[in-house]
Amino acid sequence: MAWRIPLADIDFDMQEEEAVLRVIRSRWLSMGEETQNFEREFAEFIGAKHTLAVSNATAALHLACIAAGIQTGDEVIVPSLSFVATANAVRYAGGIPIFADVESADDLVISPSSIEKSISEKTRAIMVMHYAGYACDMPAIMDIAKKYNLLVLEDSAHAIGAELDGRKLGAWGAIGCFSFFSNKNMTTGEGGMLATNDDALAERLKILRSHGMTSLSWDRHKGRAWTYDVVDLGFNYRIDEIRAALGRTQLKKVSGFNQRRAELTNLYRDLLSELTPEICAPFAKPRGASCHHIMPILLPKGTDRIKFMEGMKAEGIQTSIHYPPIHYFKNYAGQTQFLREPLPVTEEIGMRETTLPLYPAMTDEDVKAVVSAVRLALDAEP
Ligand SMILES: Cc1ncc(COP(=O)(O)O)c(C=O)c1O
Repeated sequence: MAWRIPLADIDFDMQEEEAVLRVIRSRWLSMGEETQNFEREFAEFIGAKHTLAVSNATAALHLACIAAGIQTGDEVIVPSLSFVATANAVRYAGGIPIFADVESADDLVISPSSIEKSISEKTRAIMVMHYAGYACDMPAIMDIAKKYNLLVLEDSAHAIGAELDGRKLGAWGAIGCFSFFSNKNMTTGEGGMLATNDDALAERLKILRSHGMTSLSWDRHKGRAWTYDVVDLGFNYRIDEIRAALGRTQLKKVSGFNQRRAELTNLYRDLLSELTPEICAPFAKPRGASCHHIMPILLPKGTDRIKFMEGMKAEGIQTSIHYPPIHYFKNYAGQTQFLREPLPVTEEIGMRETTLPLYPAMTDEDVKAVVSAVRLALDAEP
């Protein structure tokens, strides 16, 4: 389907083409100099001591859970209002995700009071997710973690460049995990990054990323090592040089992208409140500076969401849902072990949330067209 206005779009130009050519001409394709430079530049951007590029954020979340020491039967508190990878990663490590509710219909991030109610003897960590790039209440969550001796892991897939109290999201907890999937604020197609300030965690993550080996092909190519030992049960979660080069190019642009996303979000907010006052646009009073990854709205109670989305499609506009709550999925539903607390806010949002298009190349006219289509689709409701 050729959408008039898609949900998301990449922003590549000659610079990305040149970056790819540079790698091809260098004749070194997997983790090497580009990857090292990408990691160093991303570390500076995020304000973290260590960063490790990986194949995607799901791999980053998996490694973060292992490095955090999650083992069979350990509990990790996660939001159900997230992408399924947030919870799956806990299960890959043998842990049990315990779903906590989100704050409110205006603030779609994990609630500190719901986190505290979900803690048990088996809880080892809290995995937060900065929905749409809006910060969770990190000071409150860090206090809870300290009180109960838990690690905080950050699913920062949405949060590239967002910050709270002058600190970038993904650099608050023990480990931050970023995604460079093609709809993200900066992209390498597939790709991810781990960030940590802890030397020991960084060392373990590095070993786990590449089969548990003590040296890389790159080290041997450079004559720095002849052989290796295998000291952990690792994975192949490496990134390649083409993606790292794309990442370096996109990183130079991401602050500009985020600025444009902020302008578009403000325009959406103004037009929605003027033309569709029955629509709620969450995060009216955001904590910190968002990077505006997506544009969520809550439809009026009782609206047939699928009919609404079909109405938008008829105007050539793509919409989405962020997210069907994870505890509703077949692979999770009916397993009472994942639920300790009722999740009324998550369930309400799960029924009403719809995501409108948002990407830096959108024009103001595009935003106006989307809001006009929202008006039409609402008016078509019986
Ligand atoms: C909140 C969240 N967590 C994790 C992921 C997984 O990222 P990746 O596709 O890079 O594995 C995504 C990707 O959409 C996401 O939105």
